Amino acid sequence: MAPEHARAFAPGRVCLIGEHTDYNNGLALAFAIAAGVTVDARRIEPEHGDGERVLAQALDFGERDELPLADPQPAPGWRAFVRGMVAELARAGLRPVGASLQIEGAVPRGAGLSSSAALEVALCLALLALAGTRGEIGTTELAKLCSRVENEWAGAQTGLLDQLSSLYGERDMALRIDFQTLRVDPVPLRLDGWRLATLDSGERRSNASSGYNQRRAECARACELLGVSSLREVEETRLQELPLALRGRARHVLSDNMRVDSAVAALRAGDLPALTELLNASHASLRDDLEVSTPTVEATVARMLDAGAAGARLMGGGFGGSVLGLLPPDVPIPAGGLEVRPCAGARVLEEG
Ligand code: GLA
Repeated sequence: MAPEHARAFAPGRVCLIGEHTDYNNGLALAFAIAAGVTVDARRIEPEHGDGERVLAQALDFGERDELPLADPQPAPGWRAFVRGMVAELARAGLRPVGASLQIEGAVPRGAGLSSSAALEVALCLALLALAGTRGEIGTTELAKLCSRVENEWAGAQTGLLDQLSSLYGERDMALRIDFQTLRVDPVPLRLDGWRLATLDSGERRSNASSGYNQRRAECARACELLGVSSLREVEETRLQELPLALRGRARHVLSDNMRVDSAVAALRAGDLPALTELLNASHASLRDDLEVSTPTVEATVARMLDAGAAGARLMGGGFGGSVLGLLPPDVPIPAGGLEVRPCAGARVLEEG
């Protein structure tokens, strides 16, 4: 029997290396963090012949929404995710039921830690648990469903990095994700006393409104000009066929893909100085080739390095958000920074 109540949690993520590679069928190395979003869902029955409804309360904003289960309409802000999730679950035949939802999040919003994927995944798991249909969809398909909500309801043409990291997160493990095959391989994150920390630049631009979608369109245009279906297939020597700006975009993707496997090798060898160099090289590529940094992000990278980090780079979609730093043993976490380490992925906490 389907439960009357379910509570689900989904974490945000940190991307160690490999940015803007997901929508290019590339590679990334990421992990789920401790901070996340919790959704508490309670079954509600329709009243007096009304159709079934979903009531949602965003506790952090003190805001509410109410929508019909059948055919919810788009809305801005956090409501887009709730309405989109209900609609996409129904479209996928997963039969969501009338529910009262309480949403509570501890992921800083717009800080490049994937608060939106945490929201999508937590909503999805809670609604599926309540409907008793979790067993009808595989985890990778679930990530795709969540990402459709982001693409079609929130207007951000993002890839699968955030949703896969949130769903497949494992304690002490980074995840090497191959976006061509959607294979996820855990890689032990052994840092030998070194630590990872994020530092928020304070600059906020959503993926829907920043240059993120433009970068995606530029990568698609590069593929079109080269006659390939994704940048994953391109040999570096062919990049000179592209106009200058697109050449930089493609070069970033190719070089970050290579850095992902070099980072996996560095971790396996316990070579933290090599990992440091890769982080710094990735940042330079994001800044100069992909051009997704900003003066505020640059100042935050400088702050991280001044605080003693050996390596630092902008993280996530760019145009603001957080910077990731790798700190040698005994270097304290910089003021305002957040230590991050791989934690368990999304899960149903309670149902019954
Ligand atoms: C955002 C998107 C992801 C990914 C990263 C950049 O987090 O949601 O899909 O493209 O930016 O790596």
